[in-house]
Amino acid sequence: MTATIRTAVIGVGSMGRNHARVYSELAEANLVAVSDANPSTAEAIGKTYVVNAYSNYHELLEKEKPQAVDVAVPTAMHEQVVTDVLNSGAHVLVEKPIAATLEEGNRLIALAKKLNRKLMVGHIVRFNPAIQELKKRLDAGELGRIYQVFCRRAGPFPARIRDVGVVIDLAPHDADIIRFLTGLDPVRLYAETEQRIHTDHEDLLFGMLRLPDGITAAVEINWLTPTKIREVLVLGERGLFRVDDLTQDLYFYENAQASGLVWDSLKNLRGVSEGGMMRFAFQRYEPLKAELQGFLKSIIEDTPVPVSGEDGLAALRIALALVEAGKTNQVVTF
Ligand SMILES: NC(=O)c1ccc[n+]([C@@H]2O[C@H](COP(=O)([O-])OP(=O)(O)OC[C@H]3O[C@@H](n4cnc5c(N)ncnc54)[C@H](O)[C@@H]3O)[C@@H](O)[C@H]2O)c1
Repeated sequence: MTATIRTAVIGVGSMGRNHARVYSELAEANLVAVSDANPSTAEAIGKTYVVNAYSNYHELLEKEKPQAVDVAVPTAMHEQVVTDVLNSGAHVLVEKPIAATLEEGNRLIALAKKLNRKLMVGHIVRFNPAIQELKKRLDAGELGRIYQVFCRRAGPFPARIRDVGVVIDLAPHDADIIRFLTGLDPVRLYAETEQRIHTDHEDLLFGMLRLPDGITAAVEINWLTPTKIREVLVLGERGLFRVDDLTQDLYFYENAQASGLVWDSLKNLRGVSEGGMMRFAFQRYEPLKAELQGFLKSIIEDTPVPVSGEDGLAALRIALALVEAGKTNQVVTF
């Protein structure tokens, strides 16, 4: 029989209510309660999934004693809520970004370690089946050497996000994907940012990153595009992989000159020309479901979480450096 974990969700706004829905569907989870500072939100989500609802999360922790809690309150409140949840003895999955600052993120990592609790960060894009398939193929050496990673994340302005700009809201996704796919951290970066519509923060970013091994990366992120674009391109010796995050499709555009070459002879690669194009077949699933299953599995089997606090911190470090570079027009070196 599969073990069941008593789960709860704190903050059931636009993201947190999806955590509640997925937990209510998973065999290895027993969703026991939700909490939201807005009582009518808490009540509505509690009613939907037939679980207890609390407007005060302290009360939830005390009465329900969940083993695992997802925290999806606004980023500025991550540190306080995650700290309280860890101190209650529960494992935590906190939505990305891990926290608002590196100091806060560091404190959370240290506390989870001290209390021997799991701390996972909700970098959901990693769990997209097309990204997982791409990672598998990169690790198998199908692309040869990676030259460049390019992430595009653009769409309309979400009026509900007031506390942070587009870079802190979205760049942690791309920072995490670049780290996940290459297994590397940037050595330096530069960015141009702009504020066109948002009243308080930047709403456009174009960033350039330098990674070890001669790999370059670029991120194009904005809230100014009237259609949603979520794309990851990975260029390498054998060709170009392209992920459409929205349709969960993975394509490969082959470099005809590298076709049939075995690993060693790639050293002698002298040219690039258009070859065949392939769209891969693999099983599609909801990324959030895979993310929460990964979290529960790590608790049940007592293994490391799929996305650690350190991963979350590294993604935040890159996002903050992009904001800084955009403000100062200076290259940030790590
Ligand atoms: N992984 C993703 O793709 C993704 C997408 C959206 C948001 N997020 C992250 O999720 C978090 C929440 O974002 P959102 O868009 O759902 O925001 P939101 O404003 O829609 O929801 C936040 C909810 O938290 C509640 N809340 C605030 N303080 C609380 C408290 N003390 N106790 C209980 N509830 C409290 C609010 O009432 C609100 O309902 C942010 O950190 C954001 O970065 C991640």
